[in-house]
Amino acid sequence: MNQAGSAATRKVADLSEAEARAELARLAKEIAQADDAYHRRDAPEISDADYDALKARNLAIEARFPALKRDDSPSEQVGAAPAEGFAKVTHAVRMLSLSNAFDDADIEEFDDRIRRYLGLGPEASLPCTAEPKIDGLSLSLRYEQGKLVQAATRGDGAVGENVTANARTIDDIPDTLNGAPDVLEVRGEVYMSHEDFEALNARQAEQGAKTFANPRNAAAGSLRQLDSSITKARPLRFFAYAWGEISEALADTQMKAIERLAAVGFQTNPLTVLCDGPEEMTAHYREIEQQRASLGYDIDGVVYKVNDLDLQRRLGFRSTTPRWAIAHKFPAELAWTRLEAIDIQVGRTGALSPVARLSPVTVGGVVVSNATLHNEDYIAGRDAKGNPIRDGKDIRIGDWVQVYRAGDVIPKVADVDLSKRPDAAAAYEFPKACPECGSEAIREEGDAVRRCTGGLICPAQAVEKLKHFVSRAAFDIEGLGSKQVEQFYRDGWIKEPADIFTLEERFGQGMQQLKNREGWGEKSAKNLFAAIEEKRRIPFGRLLFALGIRHVGEQASNLLARFYGTWDEFIEAMDGAKACEGPEWERLLGIDGVGEVMARSLVTSFAQAHERESIDRLVEHLTVEEAARPDTSDSPVAGKTVVFTGTLEKMTRAEAKARAEALGAKVSGSVSAKTDLVVAGPGAGSKAKKAEELCVEMIDEDGWLDLIGDA
Ligand code: IVH
Repeated sequence: MNQAGSAATRKVADLSEAEARAELARLAKEIAQADDAYHRRDAPEISDADYDALKARNLAIEARFPALKRDDSPSEQVGAAPAEGFAKVTHAVRMLSLSNAFDDADIEEFDDRIRRYLGLGPEASLPCTAEPKIDGLSLSLRYEQGKLVQAATRGDGAVGENVTANARTIDDIPDTLNGAPDVLEVRGEVYMSHEDFEALNARQAEQGAKTFANPRNAAAGSLRQLDSSITKARPLRFFAYAWGEISEALADTQMKAIERLAAVGFQTNPLTVLCDGPEEMTAHYREIEQQRASLGYDIDGVVYKVNDLDLQRRLGFRSTTPRWAIAHKFPAELAWTRLEAIDIQVGRTGALSPVARLSPVTVGGVVVSNATLHNEDYIAGRDAKGNPIRDGKDIRIGDWVQVYRAGDVIPKVADVDLSKRPDAAAAYEFPKACPECGSEAIREEGDAVRRCTGGLICPAQAVEKLKHFVSRAAFDIEGLGSKQVEQFYRDGWIKEPADIFTLEERFGQGMQQLKNREGWGEKSAKNLFAAIEEKRRIPFGRLLFALGIRHVGEQASNLLARFYGTWDEFIEAMDGAKACEGPEWERLLGIDGVGEVMARSLVTSFAQAHERESIDRLVEHLTVEEAARPDTSDSPVAGKTVVFTGTLEKMTRAEAKARAEALGAKVSGSVSAKTDLVVAGPGAGSKAKKAEELCVEMIDEDGWLDLIGDA
């Protein structure tokens, strides 16, 4: 299929600009495909010599037409490290992200929420630090006895990549620390200054090597090099702003802890200040916003953190973000361009999503040619309640539209310029049938999204579900990516997830068949079966996420897995909750982080015969690993069912519940024979009475604090 020969049939000198552009596009695609076959699937499709010829041809055309060099040019891919090139590191303390705020009201709400959680009145002072949010990539540095022993990227928060050799080449990262605790994990941001970024890109361009779209990409690309001498040649910097595992506390406030990090040898951001209340916080935000352009490095907002570390500890974490910090983001970047077409994509839950195909335009250093249009109401210029958005202006093919990008968020079409609307532009008619399977596409009441009703007969839904199933955060089967899943689905070999695990058995004889297929060699087929075999053992959270149930994302899946522990217990709970009422349903709703929409989606999926049978067929082939519940080995309340009732005076209900759950207890809203302990404050009524009747142990708030060692 890939014919290096035909690519090199015409002399580069004879090519017109248009021909050169087209050929560069084709070469980029062919080389990427060859790379994928070679590196990811271990199944080269072309010879080394043909591959080299393609690369040489690409370079020659780029040399003659430098302006046509593509952003994804294969000449820039040299030395790019595949993710699997680094050893994995499990973080001793998870690396979390931050929740976002976009305006002053969100900051007031942050302050309010914390006060409510801690039970602080409006008069109590609640100082927070405010510091720039550096637009780089986070890194965790582990020091033992003052010596740098390991550096790891964030990865998925739980497991990152070991980049120790590379981190050692960064000047801002000391090899040894003065006067640090025995174990100290320092966390911060690796970034590149504007000046260094410009110089690096100029150097790269001169050498015909990869240039970077922005400093953040340059920093990431430079840190994630398998050859640390490349990292050494790149001017990376590091600001410390947080910590992971520590053998002793750094200080009692965030501010002093940061000062301590500076004292032991780190660069910390000089624009870090202490603010008393939302007003001071947002004032500092505006000051930093003013200075943004002259700082010399990219920042994308301001981070606020509760200063008192004891309060931080009490506030704790949601599944992926701390309650005690928030990122106040700067407004997004904008650009105008032409809307060329609207495509409809069908997702794994049948949602029809309109995608804008745009004339490519640079927004904040990145070329954008696709953007989301959300749903049919958004195109028509109204919100879900029928109120006008963009003053009711609809969006039409051919329109001049404003594209908006905020950080890593998918670009959006935000506005339209009616003065530039072509006369022939007609209002966009959203399809009422699925473009993939022709089934009727309907909108349920209250749903902003139109969905294909084809279910698994819709190839797009089935394939998207399968793609999700094998994706990185799900089963992550090496050699079975989106492309292969599509191929197998088309050929009828894999129709549902369970089929993956019978592939070898069904084609055991037919390994020959797989071998003869385009792109599969004996080695890659064997590797595929081995990779599938490896995933027969799967962590509970991954399995649940892989099922692709609406509203049940990766974090929620892990949360549910940790809560229920084993798959069997979980299934029993789903069956018990299927009527969306009763104690099992209440227990599900009681999980901090599970709302009613998610809970309904979850129980209906397991209750629908079709879907349930498909899940059961799958699970038959698997060993589902029990989820690690929080380490509560020395917790006095692990596994106990606790009910809080009456008024609590030293903590709020939310805090009490979160603490109890963190200690491995189940918190229930009602007293029954299954209750182990009732914590009753003043004013406890019927629940306390019932506990007495059932002879359930009852203690007061102080008793509870004594019990959990927190008095
Ligand atoms: S604190 C537990 N402080 O932003 C909270 N993060 O969106 C740990 N970041 O993953 C993060 N500047 O990579 C913190 N001054 C700062 C930061 C910062 C940049 C990054 C960091 C984090 C991401 C979250």
